[in-house]
Amino acid sequence: LTVGILFGGASSEYEVSLMSASSVLNHINREKYDIVMLGITKDGKWLRYRGEINDIKSGNWVNGNVTPAYVVPDRALHGIIEIGEDGTAKATKLDAVFPVMHGKNCEDGTLQGLFMVAGIPFVGCDTLSSAICMDKVVTHTVMDNAGITTAKWDYCTADVLDNFEPYAKTLAERFGYPMFVKPANAGSSVGVNKATNSTQLKAAIKIALQHDKKVVIEQAVVGQEVECAVLGNRNPVASVVGEIAPKAEFYDYDAKYISDTTDLFIPARIPEAVAEKVRETAVKAYRALFCTGLSRVDFFVRANGEVVFNEINTIPGFTHISMYPKLFEAYGIPYSELIDKLIELALE
Ligand code: DAL
Ligand code: MG
Repeated sequence: LTVGILFGGASSEYEVSLMSASSVLNHINREKYDIVMLGITKDGKWLRYRGEINDIKSGNWVNGNVTPAYVVPDRALHGIIEIGEDGTAKATKLDAVFPVMHGKNCEDGTLQGLFMVAGIPFVGCDTLSSAICMDKVVTHTVMDNAGITTAKWDYCTADVLDNFEPYAKTLAERFGYPMFVKPANAGSSVGVNKATNSTQLKAAIKIALQHDKKVVIEQAVVGQEVECAVLGNRNPVASVVGEIAPKAEFYDYDAKYISDTTDLFIPARIPEAVAEKVRETAVKAYRALFCTGLSRVDFFVRANGEVVFNEINTIPGFTHISMYPKLFEAYGIPYSELIDKLIELALE
């Protein structure tokens, strides 16, 4: 099988993708698949890469052995077209692709739409499900409808800044400070801030607006932060539950990928009955959001054992510290077998 591994992307999570994809490339079974590496630069240039995996993480791949190459929407070609220096075009068929990319233009259904038009099977959720899961306003609406508990939430646009104080007052009455302010579409906590008063709330909304037109405001949930990995199409399975214990104020971008300020616990330090409730809710959310392939569902667990949905990631991080592969390893599926399963699910 020829499998395209996509990395990078015109997304605020470009660097995270480089880490995730390096890790996938280091674990994928080379005897089973012919690998085609396709990188997308941060400004959206598509390049086939034939260099060392090590140069991906550092970002140096862009200056390495690269040729312009594109997934084409022509179903007869079913793959990529590479453009040589002399302008000649060469087609390569792909049996499946694994977009190991996060966030906007990567995980939000847009890229998935291209694969769907091209008729190329791909790992993960389809266009609709990816788009629903990427937009926190839509995800929360679906969760409310499915009877899955979320933090109290609201969303706004730049319009609220014109007459801010009454809006801030309404939110403070509805759920009180502290609040989390997030761009509706973003990942890895980019553009996310905590607010403890209306001045901070306004500043946080302005920051989030730099990333998206819609901003989600949530009541801060006091509790443990746990994550559950889900795998499958029609009969999804839930992994062991893991726990994130950030030493920073919250599990922000820095805590996630740069500093060593987070403790991971696998399994999570919660009673088995609560872990079971997390697994059940993860699968319920996965189904309600029409997910296929994979997703990582993130929750808070309150001291009384209540399970609160936080968010879902349809292409979760695959970095060396990432939970998705670790949770399935704990469940009994080693990393390279997990990749095999994801590719099998893409081909189903
Ligand atoms: N959005 C990042 C990659 C994650 O949630 O794992
Ligand atoms: Mg995320």
